[in-house]
Order: sequence, then structure tokens, then C-alpha cells
Amino acid sequence: MLYGADYNPDQWPEDVWPEDVALMREAGVTTVSLGIFSWSRLQPSADTWDFAWLDRIIDLLHSGGIGVNLATATASAPPWMTTAHPDILAADENGSPYWHGSRQHHSPASPTWRRLAVELVRRLAERYGDHPGVVMWHVDNELGCHLNEDFSDAARDAFRVWLEKRYGSVDALNDAWGTAFWSQRYGSLDEVFPPRNAPFIRNPSQVLDYKRFMSDTWLDVFLDQKRIIREAGATQPISTNMMGAFPPADYASWAPHIDVITDDCYPDPLDPQRRFTTAFQRDLVRSLKRGTPWILMEQATDAVNWRPSNPSKMPGQLAAETAQSIGRGADGIMFFQWRQSRAGAEKFHSAMVPQAGRRTRTWKETVALGERLSALPELPTPADDAPVALVFDWENWWAVEGEGHPTRLDYLQLVRDWHAALVRRGVMVDIVPPEKVDSRYRLAIAPFLYLLRSAGAAALTSFVDAGGVLAAGPFTDIVDDNDRFRDGGFLTQLGPTLGVAFEDFRALVPPAREVVAERAGEEGSASAARNDPRAHVAFDGRLRGSGTVVAEAVWADDAEAVATFTAGPSEGRPAITRRAHGSGAAWYLATMPAPDSLDGVLGALLDDAGVAGEVGEIPADVEVARRGELLTIINHGTEPATVTAPGALLESGEPFGTRSLDPQGFVFALAPREGA
Ligand code: GLA
Repeated sequence: MLYGADYNPDQWPEDVWPEDVALMREAGVTTVSLGIFSWSRLQPSADTWDFAWLDRIIDLLHSGGIGVNLATATASAPPWMTTAHPDILAADENGSPYWHGSRQHHSPASPTWRRLAVELVRRLAERYGDHPGVVMWHVDNELGCHLNEDFSDAARDAFRVWLEKRYGSVDALNDAWGTAFWSQRYGSLDEVFPPRNAPFIRNPSQVLDYKRFMSDTWLDVFLDQKRIIREAGATQPISTNMMGAFPPADYASWAPHIDVITDDCYPDPLDPQRRFTTAFQRDLVRSLKRGTPWILMEQATDAVNWRPSNPSKMPGQLAAETAQSIGRGADGIMFFQWRQSRAGAEKFHSAMVPQAGRRTRTWKETVALGERLSALPELPTPADDAPVALVFDWENWWAVEGEGHPTRLDYLQLVRDWHAALVRRGVMVDIVPPEKVDSRYRLAIAPFLYLLRSAGAAALTSFVDAGGVLAAGPFTDIVDDNDRFRDGGFLTQLGPTLGVAFEDFRALVPPAREVVAERAGEEGSASAARNDPRAHVAFDGRLRGSGTVVAEAVWADDAEAVATFTAGPSEGRPAITRRAHGSGAAWYLATMPAPDSLDGVLGALLDDAGVAGEVGEIPADVEVARRGELLTIINHGTEPATVTAPGALLESGEPFGTRSLDPQGFVFALAPREGA
């Protein structure tokens, strides 16, 4: 189990370093991420390099038994560089450059930046590739975090090259983007730009390709640096820290290139769904490389400083959140950062060693946590045996939230709603793109899968053919890879499996003028509309409840209508259908079950698939996660909770039986899965 933090010794006089190492030992630190923002110290000018300080600190840490996750230090280009080479600056959608003075102001597509970054990485890798203290490589930092989009000239040129590779000719691009619409036909790729500022809805296929391009560009930065590190002979694992469901980066496509998945997670203390939001993130990153552990590369010891208001964690919350990571597959727990900065933009951000010193609750909690983690026996590998697949797909995310649709929706939140319902029941779930749905799962849920690639449709179809239970919809199987309707209407790929044909979308929204007035200037209008009772419509039948977002009109040509809309725009039409198929079944949901109905619908799907939660009844604030034989049981609430579970406590061997968990308390138990 790795335990540690980002370490920025270059922010401190060198005589602090020995104390740092001594304190790290006291806190049970095993590993630090070093040098993430050190470029201007390592290369103070174009022709000057200074590695001596880094030699000294790596040696000091190594002699103290602390491993180094060595950063490639490219996350913030020094001022001399942007002054000498303004072509490395990224630009906003109006083409205005970002300047140095913060971080991540460079264009990842800039050939000059790439050349300079590669030179730095080459020197680092040649110097430290065989240092016994370097246990891992940390490429850049949170690629794309602040710079989601880059509209610089460098990005424009690289976008054209990317399009040339994808389409081969401008005619193919014109066809893919449907440029016959609104006089957008291109005569040559040199006329194409990233979707810069425009007066009205931009071409959705162009926007989609641009998002693919940005994600690929950040990945390319990683691959470039990884190649240099390997060329220098380094053999340590190479990673880059992800940010869970981070919109601009299609991590599912990145994952095969990354040796070990590392993730940064900063739960929002004001999010009432926090424990579900974080459980989703942990399951998502675990699912990127199923059956292998991942590392929580950053979390805060206490408050962050970058939200409008930054309350502290409650006592014990840090440990409970840590247990959640471990229970959902993490084998490393790291923080941002080791010693609280005394200057700069993050001086109010918590750290393992707070500015207020070692009498603080934060220091005591992190030391106690380090002790508890270091005493744990080896944990079972996360087994690749979750019975449920929840389909989540970045390309679809980019496309389904596009402008000009029947309704605006918050795809991530809708998928999270399903996930939360599964977590509440203690059912383990992988979060995967449709192509990854296969017969290892018993139930697959694919909501709002608007852009469904043919390979994804084929996988979902084979899954049902092989006896799986699929629940698809609503707003699913609508466009192809280029965000164009397919020939033959909607549900053109899954329709035969579902036994359903599609007529119309029929968006459910509260009266339009009120939505605009209430939500003007605010994000998340779709989630607000979902919670608005006026946007709900009832259904009844074998299942009963209400739906939201849409009440699609479908024909259940070859399927049972499990529930029918009893009101609203599709009154009398099927709301939920099921088509039995061999030992499996294909369900179609013509609406999103509303919050009060979701669990009922999920229960029917789980029954159909023969899937049950890991333990029987779970109290409201308690979470149960399985990782191979390990059950992690956490009380996220503010009151004690009583839980009955099988197995024996990992740390003491006592039978679990029925026991009370303190607020924010947790236990690890060993309990082989029944029948395993
Ligand atoms: C991110 C960055 C860190 C730091 C933290 C603060 O995760 O990677 O450098 O800025 O946020 O929360």
C-alpha cells in the first residue's frame, strides 16, 4: 500500500528537507510525487540546467526509505519560455492567448512546447531512470485539467493533421460532418478550424471531432513522454494522474497505454450525494483496467481552496473516504500535498503537514491513517467479477449533450443516478463503454446511449444472445460515430433485440419560460428539470412509478409492455418493455425512472438477472463494497449504524456478525463470495 503525497521541496529552504523526511517516516509515508511543478527550477533559462538539488532530495528520500514517483515536470512552462516562444501559448475560443502566471497555459499541440518538454523529460529519464529510489514516473499532471480546449494556431494546425488522418480527404470530411447543411462545405482541409466562437449552434460533428482531437492530443503528450522515458532505459511503471469522470479526456481510450491507473479525487463537501459521487469515480477508474488495483494519487487531507466556499472535512471523514477507495480497488493512498505551501495560489489548501503544525487534527488523522494502512495484511487483488455493467461512454457524453437536441440533459448525473441506486443495494458494478459489455456480466444498463458505435451495438446484442439481461434507453441508438442519424429511423441497431420500434422523443420539461427564468446563467438545468415534479409522467403496469426527461413514443412490436404511460405526451404507449430472449432478456426504458421510482425498476432488472447485493439489508448511510474476498463496510453517516455481514474482520480475525459502526467508521472483513 503506497501512502504519501505530492512533495514540493523546491518551495522550501533545504534545511527543512531532513525534517520533512523524519516527519514522513512518522506519518508512515512510503512514497512521494516529486517535482511536478519544478520546470523553472530544473531549467532556469534556455541553456541552464540544475539537477543537483533534485539529486540531493531523491538521495535523501531514498536513504530515508521513501520511494519517489518522479514527475516529468512539464505541467507549467517557465516564463522565460513563453517570453521567448509565444507560439507555445494556448488560446481560448476567441483566439486570445493564455499567459504565464498560473499553470497549464501551454498548447499541448505546440511543436515548440513538445520539443522543449521532450528535452526536459529525456534529461530526467537519463539521469534518474535507474535510480533505485525512483519507483514510478508521473507524466505531466492532470493533463487537460484547466485547459479543456485550445483554439491556438498550433491546435488549428494539429487539428487539420488529425482530420487528414481520420478522413483522408476533404470529401470524406464533408460527408461525415454533413456540411451540405448551412453552406458549410469545405473546399480543402486548410479551410477547417477548431470550432471557435460562432454566432449560433456549431456543427455538432465538428464539435465532436474536436473533442476527440483534444483528448487524443493530451494522450499524445503522455505517449510522447512515455516513449522518451522508455528510450532512456527506465523500467518503472509510467502513469499520469486522471480525474475520474473528467469530460475532456476519454480515459477509456487512454487506459491501455497507462501502466497503472492513478486518480485524483476531491469530494465536494457540499454535495449531498458525495459518497455516491465518489463511489462512482472509484468504480469508473477501477473499471479502466479491470482486475487490477489503482492508486488514489491525490486527495485532500482536509479543505481544498478552489471552490467558492471550502469547509473542512468532518472528523473521521478522511479515513472513511480512504476506505471507500481501498474497498473499490485502490492500492495506494496519496494526498495533495505534503507540506502546506506558504505562498502562492494554494496556500489555503490543506496538506499532511499543515501550516499550523503537528498539534492539528489533520496531522493526527493522517498519521493515524498511515499507521492503520501500514498494519493491513496484503489485500486481495480487485477481482474482475462485478455482476453488473453500467455503460458510460465519453464519445457519447460529448455527443448526447450537444446543442439543438429535444432536451438538454446531464448525462453524467443520469448515469450516476443508476450507479447510486446500485451502490445503495450493495451491488458491485463496473462502469464501461458498450464494447466492454460481455458475458462476464449478468446485467448491463445502458441509459442515454445516444451515440452507439456499431461495435458497441454488436457487443450489447451478443450479450443478450449469450443470456445476459440488457436494459437500454431512453434516448439510445440514435446517431452514428459522426453524430448523424443512421438510415432507417432510430433504434436501428438494437431495435430487433429489444423488440421495439421508435416513433418520437417527446421531451418532458417544465414550462419552458420558467426553466429559463429559474436557471438563467446556471449549470445543471437538466438535473433541475429532472427533479421538477411538473417534468414527471406516471407509468403503471407490472411496474409502477414515474419517469422523467423524456416520455418516448415507441411500439412494442415484439416485446411485453411491462409498464404503460398513464398520462403525458405518450399516454397509453409502452413506458417499459421486456423481450425475453433465450435465457436472457432485453428491456427498453422509454423514460428515465424518476428518483422515487428508480429503485423499483432496478429491483426488477436485478431479479430478472438473478443479481443480489453483497449483504442483506444495508442501513441508509452504510456502504458495502467487495474487492475479491474483501468486504469494506463504511458508515458515512453522522449517527452510529448497525450492520450484519458475513466473514471475519481483516485486522482482528473476529467474526463480523452484527456490529455497530461509529459515524464515519469502517471495517474491512474477509468473506469469500458464496459459491466461490
Ligand atoms: C490538483 C492538482 C494539484 C493541486 C490540487 C489541489 O489535483 O493536481 O497540483 O492543485 O489539485 O486540490
